[in-house]
Amino acid sequence: MLLEVNSLNVSYGRVVAVTDVNIGVTEGQIVTILGANGAGKTSVLNSIMGVTPSLGKIVFNGETITKWPSARRVAAGMALVPEGRRILLSLSVDENLLMGAYQRKDRAIIADLDKIYDLFPNLARRRRELGSVLSGGEQQMLAIGRALMARPRLLLMDEPSLGLSPLFVREIFRLIRTLNGSGLSILLVEQNTRLALQTAHHGYVLKLGRLLLDGDTAVLSRSGELAKAYLGGEAAPELVHSV
Ligand SMILES: Nc1ncnc2c1ncn2[C@@H]1O[C@H](COP(=O)(O)OP(=O)(O)O)[C@@H](O)[C@H]1O
Ligand SMILES: [Mg+2]
Repeated sequence: MLLEVNSLNVSYGRVVAVTDVNIGVTEGQIVTILGANGAGKTSVLNSIMGVTPSLGKIVFNGETITKWPSARRVAAGMALVPEGRRILLSLSVDENLLMGAYQRKDRAIIADLDKIYDLFPNLARRRRELGSVLSGGEQQMLAIGRALMARPRLLLMDEPSLGLSPLFVREIFRLIRTLNGSGLSILLVEQNTRLALQTAHHGYVLKLGRLLLDGDTAVLSRSGELAKAYLGGEAAPELVHSV
């Protein structure tokens, strides 16, 4: 296992967001975390990244990182594409990407910048423009590019397709497959259940902060339980029959 999360608990004051969650990511896999709004998905990702305090044990690449500050986790090979993208609107595309390499000391940063621009020709054309003039889809590409600039082994993605046009949504999922094909392990939080199940190898379903289902996506897709769990008992035929 590249990542093992054991008995994760997250609270915000008296609000309990995550209770006793166990999650694993096998090296080379795409693993998805599904669940309705408020299920605790962002809390799990942010805890793994060390930007939200949590209880439990997190092991990454054989090391217990539970108490590590976020920057050390980045240096160890994790990067987060945060919910809502969080790019810096008043900085250029170039500068936003370079922010992703802030903890690196090697000499390959500029070469990696070129690789990101090969991956995102749209961004290459606009490299000196400000983040604020990019479309939502381009901002998402920039957020992904920024995370890749950290040279991660594990990419954590929080709802990368949210709010994007169908064209960009397809683009994002194609990119996720491409990145995984080149060896990157990915932990993907998504509300687009159908595409996430088609793309990921393994899936977890959270409900009200607890782990409800866990399985290979091929099995989860066929499970009537997923529709029930995810939608609180209501039937969701398109979700069950789509794969
Ligand atoms: N900063 C916060 N302060 C208080 N409650 C929060 C905070 N962040 C999230 N929560 C609560 O924690 C629960 C899980 O939220 P979150 O992890 O954002 O879920 P998801 O990403 O699945 O929508 C929700 O009930 C949410 O209202
Ligand atoms: Mg969220």
